[in-house]
Amino acid sequence: MMRLDKFLSVTATASRKESAVLLKKGRVKVNGQPVFKGETKIDEEKDTVTLDGEPILFQKNRYILLHKPQGYVSSTDDPSGPTVLELLPEKERRNLFPCGRLDKNTTGLLILTDDGPLAHRLLSPKHHAKKEYYFTCQRKITAQDVADLEGGVDIGGYITKPCKITLFDDFSGSITLTEGKYHQIKLMFAARCNKILTLHRHAFGGIVLDPALKQGEWRYLTPEEVNLLESHE
Ligand code: URA
Repeated sequence: MMRLDKFLSVTATASRKESAVLLKKGRVKVNGQPVFKGETKIDEEKDTVTLDGEPILFQKNRYILLHKPQGYVSSTDDPSGPTVLELLPEKERRNLFPCGRLDKNTTGLLILTDDGPLAHRLLSPKHHAKKEYYFTCQRKITAQDVADLEGGVDIGGYITKPCKITLFDDFSGSITLTEGKYHQIKLMFAARCNKILTLHRHAFGGIVLDPALKQGEWRYLTPEEVNLLESHE
């Protein structure tokens, strides 16, 4: 059971203050009946709550798909620059953290969630979700480079796991990893005497970056997308 005003805030429908106004105007209904008081207790699992007739879906956790721009740090708190959380409105930030990290100058798909167990599972070495990046690099990539990178290269005492590379041209392509060491792709290319110029994450765990999201924009994952992550083996 949960207070109705709390329900409206955790579902990001309205802040406490906004809720009071919506409730007063009779715009919020519980099982078809207008409810005017924020302190009214509802059963968030069973009751149907609507705003202006539209059902409000309750998810215990929040899952956000963000198109990360350059210049933002993938952490909740960092003195070296603005964090990705600062791209969200303040009321949305509570308890969220990035599921994995992108370098400050990497762009693309980042999932933010407050679901610790799911994030842990997706990033654990045993289950590590597939991640696809688009890259551009400084030097021409040879067929030998592709074979070496796909087979695994030494990035400072660690041999990377097999990965998949598809070239778009001599200087760009996509690379799909099933692990995530710090600066991994940059270090892999450095191991082949090459240099990554741009890096953009296109997909993670079966979820593809929504082309409707411009850099810095975000939306909630759809229930289907959340299912995809949850069913990840
Ligand atoms: N590999 C990198 O080098 N940087 C990233 O941001 C992600 C993968």
